[in-house]
Amino acid sequence: MILRRFLFAAFAITLAALWTSVPGRAQNNNLIPQPAKLTPGDGRLEINGDFRVALAGYQEGRLQAAALRLIARLAKQTGIPFSDVLASDPGKATLVIRCDHASKPVQLLGEDESYQLEVTSAQALLTAANPLGVLRGMETFLQLVELDEKGFRAPAVRVEDHPRFAWRGLMIDSARHWMPVEVMKRNLDGMAALKLNVLHWHLADDQGFRVESKEFPKLQEMGSDGHYYTQDQVREIIAYARERGIRVVPEFDMPGHTTAWVVGYPELASAPGPYSLERKWGIFDPTLDPTREEVYKFLDGFIGEMAALFPDEYFHVGGDEVNGKQWDANPRIQSFLREHGLKNNHELQTYFTRRVQAIVQKHGKKMIGWDEVLHPDLPKDIVIQSWRGQKSLAEAARQGYRGLLSAGYYLDLIYSAASHYAVDPMEGATAGLSPEEQARILGGEACMWSEYVSPETVDSRIWPRMAAIAERLWSLQSVKDVDSMYRRLEVVSRNLEGLGLTHRSSFPQMLGRLVGETPPTSLQTLSGLLEPVKEYSRGEMGEYTSFTPLNRLVDATRPESDAARGFAKLVENISANREQIRQQLTHWRDGQQTLVPLLQRSFLSQEDVPLSEDVAALSQAGLEALDYVEAGKHAPENWLNEQQALLDRAAKPRAELLIMIVPSIRKLVEAAR
Ligand code: ACM
Repeated sequence: MILRRFLFAAFAITLAALWTSVPGRAQNNNLIPQPAKLTPGDGRLEINGDFRVALAGYQEGRLQAAALRLIARLAKQTGIPFSDVLASDPGKATLVIRCDHASKPVQLLGEDESYQLEVTSAQALLTAANPLGVLRGMETFLQLVELDEKGFRAPAVRVEDHPRFAWRGLMIDSARHWMPVEVMKRNLDGMAALKLNVLHWHLADDQGFRVESKEFPKLQEMGSDGHYYTQDQVREIIAYARERGIRVVPEFDMPGHTTAWVVGYPELASAPGPYSLERKWGIFDPTLDPTREEVYKFLDGFIGEMAALFPDEYFHVGGDEVNGKQWDANPRIQSFLREHGLKNNHELQTYFTRRVQAIVQKHGKKMIGWDEVLHPDLPKDIVIQSWRGQKSLAEAARQGYRGLLSAGYYLDLIYSAASHYAVDPMEGATAGLSPEEQARILGGEACMWSEYVSPETVDSRIWPRMAAIAERLWSLQSVKDVDSMYRRLEVVSRNLEGLGLTHRSSFPQMLGRLVGETPPTSLQTLSGLLEPVKEYSRGEMGEYTSFTPLNRLVDATRPESDAARGFAKLVENISANREQIRQQLTHWRDGQQTLVPLLQRSFLSQEDVPLSEDVAALSQAGLEALDYVEAGKHAPENWLNEQQALLDRAAKPRAELLIMIVPSIRKLVEAAR
């Protein structure tokens, strides 16, 4: 039995090794997302000062602009000052782009995004049916360009590529923390680099109403603290997204999460006002009144105005987290339930959803809602966005609705890239669906809720982890190698910086502010061994409002500790990596000893002293454990007890931060037992 299992394991490992050597599966390139098919060729295409791009076939301004952006980005990537003139003769171009025809005037869900890219040592040829495929292929070309001992070059290769899912999105919450236009634009650049195609824009919530309405100006005038997008700015962002092959789907969350609406229009609420903007985070009572015709009249006007402003075919009406308290407390609403035979608040919400869906449809749009709106009696052309678990996605598909997966892709929960990468829209609860039901699963969206991010920190919460989700949604289901993903994530993370994203550059700046001087490397090291607490723990640990400065170490610290992950790999094999482990621990211990006095001098960093001290103590514990292991001695009981106490203390969050090397130190201590 054991032997058979061993043989099977050996067979599986051999098979896996063969599998990874098949072209296109090797993932030893830097491409993210991995293309559907990649066949390596011979030789390399040199990228030098003679680099030229030629456009052939169908032409439009968007293609020319994209070609000029490609040249500018390549110039940034290589430092070579290219001429930004497009070549008219394809024979003289390094990269020839051949496009067959136009794409739709308003980008449609499911439009062809496929492309082929053939790179030889003489020339690269990118062909696509329409500009969307060209845009996707350009990103692949840029990612192929590497530095080697001879220069900048792209390996000869043939790529045939298309997305696995038609809907690959990122939701950004501009309501809880205001996200200025430039934040939206640089994140659209990042999305385009990862072949994402939907920006889901969460534009109104209890803490802010962020779009100018000309019909109902009190929405932004009283509901935004002056932080809202004018309609011109909205059009500017939509145009910017279209240039990059990205649809923009607005979300106006209702009937809950509507405090910001009812500050200016209290008559829409289910209880008398007056109301003021919510400053805290959570689920609040103000809810639109589903029983009054005036509310639908208002929504007809408002949705009509927004439907004209946002050209996308889809319109998101939220529908999540209705606590029903105002409905329960209102006798008129209670008698409405009885008169209409509605058994509970969920049925009342479904009544509301139906009415809203009719309005959305009247204005030429298809409705999307969070999974709370799911009810078997709604029209089947609506889309359900599954956030409370994959079960609701399966349920929606079974009931005949199309769906999107967001459960498992919540970037604000501060999980690892690997954990997001492991979530697949077609696995888990959806695995048992029929092919017809599976075809209703359109893809997924990552969610960047903004309770604990500001314009300064939001990029670092989105990038680079978003790239792992982008690969899950674009690449074949079989692309799953976590080590390969992390290796490529590091490459893309550096390249994203060239697009103006601040996920890396904000880090030293924020550390510098924390201590009031150029941050020493020991502070970067400390932060690099930490992670912010997960899920919604920050809200339980601190008193947060819209006005709380996000300027602490927890804000500067990135979601995922690469150093701790690397160290955990070393500790998987202590005897083989003893020297490296010792070096790391010595470096961490010695660095922290000089850091404590610096941290004590600033009111912002005093709270981090225990973290620094514990990193030093943990490093020392690891070193002592290694001494016992190397000497072949069992550590004495009192030493083990002391380390146990240290480990237990260090495993608890302090200053809303976790020390991520604790499990590895525990392993070392156990090895000395
Ligand atoms: C949600 O996270 N409330 C959709």
